[in-house]
Amino acid sequence: MIVAGNWKMFPGPDPAALAARLAGITGVDVIVCPAYVALARCVEAGLTTYAQNVHWETEGAYTGEISAPMLLRLDVGGSLVGHSERRQYFGETDAGVARRAQTALEAGLGVIACVGETQEERDADDMETVLRIQVDAIRDACGVHDRLVLAYEPVWAIGTGRTATPEMAQEAHAFVKSLLDRPVLYGGSVKPDNADELLSQPDVDGALVGGASLDVESFASICEAAARSHS
Ligand code: PGA
Repeated sequence: MIVAGNWKMFPGPDPAALAARLAGITGVDVIVCPAYVALARCVEAGLTTYAQNVHWETEGAYTGEISAPMLLRLDVGGSLVGHSERRQYFGETDAGVARRAQTALEAGLGVIACVGETQEERDADDMETVLRIQVDAIRDACGVHDRLVLAYEPVWAIGTGRTATPEMAQEAHAFVKSLLDRPVLYGGSVKPDNADELLSQPDVDGALVGGASLDVESFASICEAAARSHS
């Protein structure tokens, strides 16, 4: 079981307070993904820390980007790639996402690669096609890598308070795993009150939590739900 908190462009909780609250929770790999400026503080607090994105070059004229070797020098353990907000607002493509993931893995980082369909795609019955295109790009670049984790995040469920039903999540996760056999986290409005039923699905291997990861107590209770579902 893996629970990752994506703080997005929010300050997030105090890393030391979060680390203290999480200390007693066992059986779950907890990861925090703060904004770049908070990476070092999270590492210092003893939290497993991932960036929210990573570039495919080691260095160069890529304003606003950060490279895998730079993250490694900070003792950052990995990075998200392909979050739907990157795809939606910053024009990231399947090819670029795959390249980011591949380079990060080759450099020695862990990767959580995000996939998911929009509401329009689901309504048009295109969910499987979209997931197949996104996952195939990642699989072709990375293979079944042991530091690669996927996250299924239906775009319509992110930050909307609308969650996939446990059955919808299970169905999508099983499909994603049939394409690339790696752990799959569920993301999209995971909260303490829906975490148990989502995390109890057989192919849901953890959660990628946005809004609810900004509060120490709600994030900790999702981690506790993951620990329960594991036991
Ligand atoms: P949310 O975000 O939990 O706020 O819906 C999830 C994500 O974007 O990773």
